[in-house]
Amino acid sequence: MKHTLFVLALALGCSKKSSSPPPAAPEPAPEPTASTEPPPAAPTPAPEPVKAEEPAPPPPPKTATATLAPTKKSKSKVTGTISFKEVADGVEVTANIENLKAGDHAWHVHEKGDCSAADAASAGEHFNPAGAAHGAPDAPAHHAGHYGNLTAGKDGKATKTFVMKGITLGDDANSIVGKGFIVHAKKDDLKSQPAGNAGDRVACGVIERAP
Ligand code: CU
Repeated sequence: MKHTLFVLALALGCSKKSSSPPPAAPEPAPEPTASTEPPPAAPTPAPEPVKAEEPAPPPPPKTATATLAPTKKSKSKVTGTISFKEVADGVEVTANIENLKAGDHAWHVHEKGDCSAADAASAGEHFNPAGAAHGAPDAPAHHAGHYGNLTAGKDGKATKTFVMKGITLGDDANSIVGKGFIVHAKKDDLKSQPAGNAGDRVACGVIERAP
């Protein structure tokens, strides 16, 4: 009897053992994915941060001047300087003129930088690269070299600063560098063609780019 029980116990033990779940199989290694792509390149090391260079300062604005001298024929004593500085939308013009007759005077850029003639006729007509009709600077049609009038006080001095649009101090067709600058005896009526009935040329200067 004892022997039988032992065998039974053994058998039970065996059956217990065999009923326990088999040890979990190890996870299969992932299949290597077939790919024709080359293996990824080793990451290049990030470049050393370059110290940002100071941005180059903007070039100084182009400038030019015209030194006026009286014309011989007019026997005027008109002198002065006109300074030009290129700005975003044109050229800023600053005039300091002396020995004018009190009142209004026409002043223009003329097409040639030649003041050699006694009446400055050598400076040619108005600088007018666009072929526009003569008119006031803010009129729809006007010469690029036209600045309206300059008003001299009783002391004969005239100063004026304003921006003339549509001209440059560069090397393009609208540049006034190398042109003539003329002050006239009379007022520009801003309508007579082609030059505003402005009378004699009393002073002339050549617009020269500043070095
Ligand atoms: Cu003129």
